Amino acid sequence: MNKQIAVLPGDGIGPEVTAVAVKVLKKVAEKFNHNFTFEEGLVGAIAIDETGNPFPDETLQLCQSADAILFGAIGHPKYDNDPSAPVRPEQGLLAMRKALGLYANIRPVATFKSLAGASPLKPEIIAGVDFVVFRELTGGSYFGKKGRSEDRESAYDTCTYTKDEILRITKLAFEAASKRRKKVTLVDKANVMETSRLWREVVQQYATDFPDIELELMFVDNAAMALIQNPSRFDVILTENMFGDILTDEASVITGSLGMLPSASVGSKVALYEPIHGSYPQAAGLNIANPMAAVLSAATLLETSFDLWEEGKAIRAAVEACLDKGLVTKDINPQDYLSTSEVGEQLCNFI
Ligand code: IPM
Ligand code: MG
Repeated sequence: MNKQIAVLPGDGIGPEVTAVAVKVLKKVAEKFNHNFTFEEGLVGAIAIDETGNPFPDETLQLCQSADAILFGAIGHPKYDNDPSAPVRPEQGLLAMRKALGLYANIRPVATFKSLAGASPLKPEIIAGVDFVVFRELTGGSYFGKKGRSEDRESAYDTCTYTKDEILRITKLAFEAASKRRKKVTLVDKANVMETSRLWREVVQQYATDFPDIELELMFVDNAAMALIQNPSRFDVILTENMFGDILTDEASVITGSLGMLPSASVGSKVALYEPIHGSYPQAAGLNIANPMAAVLSAATLLETSFDLWEEGKAIRAAVEACLDKGLVTKDINPQDYLSTSEVGEQLCNFI
């Protein structure tokens, strides 16, 4: 199979973990006789440094002509502490999501047996956790009208949703639920927000065509609590952009390993795959970051965008093998660990 993959390493640990994912993909190509070509593009703080634009046109074109996108991370501390910065790396990420029509961010959360001890939650609480979050990615307060009053004494971010925006991700969530345990939990704040009441209206209406799928309605504050108290009650969580951002960070630590979780952003033609851990600037350049989430994102890319399930399985098996043999980075085992690139070599050996 001939495929072109756009690689956007981005900021912080993005380049290190993405390099491992690319190495693993090359190994897979060699073993399974595929021809993957990789072309790198700039996004984020590094793109601002080099071009002044966090999502340059060249990168957009690269993404549009690719068969799939592998993305690292975005963000730099020099912008986090400067609210007056005129251009911010995160704008590049939002522009990219919007321009590529990536309206659904899919984040699966499941426990790895060998990592059960690493969760901050009790083993009996995390046993059997297996859910997936469908976060809306191109609407809500991230993209609504925002600004300052003329005297700059007040500010606003508007949360807006259309029925169509809600419906298209609802379809994806129900489709996923029909292949899983047949339960969708819509997370919102319908006791306060009008947009949430629109979500309920659209999702409840859509659900009437799927009598075999249970629809549960839950307020976001309650969901934040339930994720810790009883995470195994969830199957598919469907939610808007900001709630999804917050809950997926919470969800990511349930399994004890933020460094293990991949995600896919889908919508229009080309999909984007990224680890959910972000840029982790404190670890940048130290060769200590956990590359597994990026590698598992690459596996998801092969499966979802290229329909290469055997190949995806080979990567997943290599990840399991490393975990079982303790060939892991410092975040997983601070006493006995390998570097980022050494884990990459081990993964390739197993493949
Ligand atoms: C994420 C990140 C981004 C978001 C930031 C970096 C803008 O937190 O992908 O979850 O809020 O969507
Ligand atoms: Mg986030």
